[in-house]
Amino acid sequence: MKQTYNRALVTGASSGFGEQFARQLSARGAALVLVARRGDRLAKLAAELGTEIEVLPADLTDAEGLAAVEDRLRDTAKPVDLLINNAGVGTSGPFMHLPAQGEADKVALNVTALMRLTHAALPRMTGARHGGVLNVSSIASVTPVPWATTYGATKAFVTAFSENLNREVRRSGVHVTALLPGPSATELTAEGFDNRLPRLFWQSPEAIVARGLAAVAAGKPVCITSRALAFATVTGGRMPRALQYVIGDRLIGRG
Ligand SMILES: NC(=O)c1ccc[n+]([C@@H]2O[C@H](COP(=O)([O-])OP(=O)(O)OC[C@H]3O[C@@H](n4cnc5c(N)ncnc54)[C@H](OP(=O)(O)O)[C@@H]3O)[C@@H](O)[C@H]2O)c1
Repeated sequence: MKQTYNRALVTGASSGFGEQFARQLSARGAALVLVARRGDRLAKLAAELGTEIEVLPADLTDAEGLAAVEDRLRDTAKPVDLLINNAGVGTSGPFMHLPAQGEADKVALNVTALMRLTHAALPRMTGARHGGVLNVSSIASVTPVPWATTYGATKAFVTAFSENLNREVRRSGVHVTALLPGPSATELTAEGFDNRLPRLFWQSPEAIVARGLAAVAAGKPVCITSRALAFATVTGGRMPRALQYVIGDRLIGRG
């Protein structure tokens, strides 16, 4: 059954897809809790939007920051019925030359924080028999992406985690969806994530976010954000793995 949401918590709302989630949800009348490290950007966005907005600056790789957002999700006074786990980082390059701390931070944000926030949000949602969790994964979760080794592995976690959890909770009235976008012009692709996918596969943040909101409302376990990407993923998945590696080398890596 299609759901509508009253209050959404969006992580990574200070730029890119997260800012777009905030804009589209506010335009539909939803109240919002905006999370990211750059509180000034969140405050500026909140001032522009027409609905009730809470600004919650937090670093989700930091224990205290993460706990503050978990507490907000457990708060029953103004319940959050849509969690959008969007915050994520990705850089590409040869794994052994990327700083180890940066790789560990990718896992802390893209995997651990997403899992912990989902864990904090679910009990109230299942109790109310209503709610949604939209986890922003990537097409990199289902195709080889050498030179984005840790990033691809974190996103493989996000897709598998969301799909499995969707089966667990779907009879409790809660929708869990993995969103698998291809490339899009945001700070992530402007800063250090090298990819050479053809223009055909690029989409605007607006289109990706609209797809994601429709998918979680409808309870889809996985949403690939365009027909071209879905076609390439299905076709690519049928190719011998060795050929998939060569394509991955050329499009993401240095092959
Ligand atoms: N753009 C693409 O081509 C693409 C494709 C597929 C999937 N994705 C996924 O889409 C999601 C959004 O990415 P984007 O493209 O919109 O990139 P973006 O513009 O760089 O946005 C990333 C967001 O995450 C927040 N963030 C980063 N580190 C954080 C931390 N430690 N704690 C809290 N928030 C943090 C950033 O805010 P602060 O810096 O203010 O903290 C920012 O709001 C990511 O999960 C990414 O992997 C992107």
